[in-house]
Amino acid sequence: MGLLGLGTVGTGTAEILLDSAGRNPLIKQMAIHRVGVKSLDKPRAVDLPRELFTTDLESIVTDPEVDVVVELIGGIEPARSLILKAIEAKKHIVTANKAVIARHGDEIYTAANEAGVYVLLEASVGGGIPIIQPLKQSLGANKIQRVTGIINGTTNYILTRMQTEGADFDEVLADAQRLGYAEADPTADVDGFDAADKISILASLAFGGRIHYEDIEREGIRQVSVTDITYAEDLGFVVKLLAIAQRDEHTHGSLQVRVGPTFVPRDHPLASVNGVYNAILVEGEPLGQVMFFGPGAGKGATASAVVSDLLNLFSLLASDQKNPLLGCSHQHYCTITPIS
Ligand code: HSE
Repeated sequence: MGLLGLGTVGTGTAEILLDSAGRNPLIKQMAIHRVGVKSLDKPRAVDLPRELFTTDLESIVTDPEVDVVVELIGGIEPARSLILKAIEAKKHIVTANKAVIARHGDEIYTAANEAGVYVLLEASVGGGIPIIQPLKQSLGANKIQRVTGIINGTTNYILTRMQTEGADFDEVLADAQRLGYAEADPTADVDGFDAADKISILASLAFGGRIHYEDIEREGIRQVSVTDITYAEDLGFVVKLLAIAQRDEHTHGSLQVRVGPTFVPRDHPLASVNGVYNAILVEGEPLGQVMFFGPGAGKGATASAVVSDLLNLFSLLASDQKNPLLGCSHQHYCTITPIS
């Protein structure tokens, strides 16, 4: 595989792939052939041979040795062009890039369908929470009525600390950046662009069709003060940046999609989702409500989702892996010891 980007998520992904013991045995079969970086001189936290590194990212996406391109550089360009070039060269794509999928998904999926390759994006929404695959598949029997999410870890972290400590916005934002939660440009988090990208992806999957990013009503958390949060608390609410996509019952199925700070009743399941955690509440018929909860940003969580796509790709491509956990071919799955 070719890894584009060795920042927070790229490093986490490489760490998992280099330390396969105790994980799904298929991970042992995944090899990193090339690593695309901005600087060859920068010290790296992960022990990858330097000869794999290049600053020529285009050479990776056309390299005949590379069958899967893992795009972890983020942003629109050059990510979009590299993904399209990789698809043209018949590489499968795994990406954590919500912005490029939300805004150029049509172009990318059309190209992928023509080339007969997969584009997988579990890491693009909800960090480590499996939500793309469930919406695509496991919940497919349901008529989805509403998807409500706390899907930006940085803003949830900021709002939580403002609520619990009365903390200063800028100081908490600096902590979120230091901890690797925030986007390179934290405006994307704070002003709701990141959550808008993510809800457009979730809405497209949940309701079918294409959600135009420009149609999403969006407001961030810059205007939220500690006074607002205290006022909400006095009334029995917490303030959360919610992303909501729902069918408008009055207009026979048209969609409403919005991102904005919202007063959430204290007894609502999303009210207790704090810190960098994300949660997505899906409501549908006949299932009712199901909530997905977990770490929504950060190195390990997001890398976990990237590797889950690699595993998914493996089973999509490998004809002998239809029921990978039913056999007992991997010794450590079959040795049971009592829990003391
Ligand atoms: N900046 C994003 C967040 C990273 O805070 O949720 C994960 O997509």
